[in-house]
Amino acid sequence: MEEAGIFGKWVIFAKGLLRLCFILVNNLYCIPTYIIWMFLLRPLVFINPTLYWKIEGRLFHFLLAMVSLWCDSAGYRILEAGDDISECLDDRTLIIANHQSTGDVPMLFSCYNVRKNVLPNVMWIMDSLFKYTNFGAVSCLHQDFFIKSGKQHREKALENLSKHLRDKYVPLNRKWLILFPEGGFLRKRKAISHKYAEQNNYPKFENVSLPRVGALNVIMNAVGPNSHTNNNCNSYGSNQTDLVPAQINYILDITIAYPRGVPIDLSHIVFGHRAPCETVFYYRLYRSSEVPEESEAMKDWLFKRWAEKEEMLQTYYDTGEMTTKFSRTKLYRPKLVLQDYLSFSEIEYKE
Ligand SMILES: *[C@@H]1O[C@H](CO)[C@@H](O)[C@H](O)[C@H]1NC(C)=O
Ligand SMILES: *[C@@H]1O[C@H](CO)[C@@H](O)[C@H](O)[C@H]1NC(C)=O
Ligand SMILES: *[C@@H]1O[C@H](CO)[C@@H](O)[C@H](O)[C@H]1NC(C)=O
Repeated sequence: MEEAGIFGKWVIFAKGLLRLCFILVNNLYCIPTYIIWMFLLRPLVFINPTLYWKIEGRLFHFLLAMVSLWCDSAGYRILEAGDDISECLDDRTLIIANHQSTGDVPMLFSCYNVRKNVLPNVMWIMDSLFKYTNFGAVSCLHQDFFIKSGKQHREKALENLSKHLRDKYVPLNRKWLILFPEGGFLRKRKAISHKYAEQNNYPKFENVSLPRVGALNVIMNAVGPNSHTNNNCNSYGSNQTDLVPAQINYILDITIAYPRGVPIDLSHIVFGHRAPCETVFYYRLYRSSEVPEESEAMKDWLFKRWAEKEEMLQTYYDTGEMTTKFSRTKLYRPKLVLQDYLSFSEIEYKE
């Protein structure tokens, strides 16, 4: 791209402008459509909540498919590598991933758009600022959780999270719960992370920042394998005698590795001015029962995962290969995620 002549630059500029228009128009008709439908269907939530949430999940998936079209059409593809994740796709799973840029979330949408039941049942834990973006209203209606950042909100925010898990995650029968334990982008958090590491005698990571354990702790307490409080929560639409197991069964640790460590960001996705490239999602899958219950031990467990990420990313940036020495299960060869835009005509949603 750097070598492009004046004509080449015009082409890139014109393409960027067209993409911007397309994406703006896309937003303008899709998001209000979702909101209006959910508004019209609102009475259904009192009559047949199961049906309401089923329709909501489907419309939500349509919206995210649109986002993955933006990524895919710019040529930003994903390679999946590491543990086989098929067993956790339809199960209650906590996703923990490293966070580098505004591109992480669209890339995740893009990757799981091709799996049938992941996106309709997903729940995000995201920064409360996200509420004020174009997708904010959608996330509110979908019952995602907005976490307020800042020390002064910390305790209350975690309390709210715990309540949200019990009041929404469990009864709505959501499956994937997505958390970025670093609590912010790498470039913004690195200095704080280094300072914290220095004061507490932790290693200084360069390619990830130290994760925060608070949210993980709350999640494990509220819906972890040893949380006994909610095992007889009933889901909407079923009656008290139907016991729905309300536990997180898996932890899926995703290492997001951008080529040469340069993250894709939202402007690349909108304008498409970065050359097409492949981003690696490296998976490690754990049973949630493997995570220690006691909070110091849990912190050590999480830090260990992050130390591994640091090493894997360093190796990847240096050599173009992820080190596989941390995986315990049979590895599957890196696989390109292929989008199929006709798939919506045949999707069957399971109850
Ligand atoms: C916690 O939840 C309450 C009620 O929904 C809300 O008013 C408050 O702002 C939340 N606090 C934080 C820190 O998230
Ligand atoms: C990754 O680590 C190396 C040094 O270990 C550093 O030079 C580089 O800037 C880091 N990458 C990012 C994206 O921070
Ligand atoms: C609850 O479920 C049980 C067993 O599925 C059924 O026998 C009973 O009639 C149901 N009760 C109500 C109030 O729907």
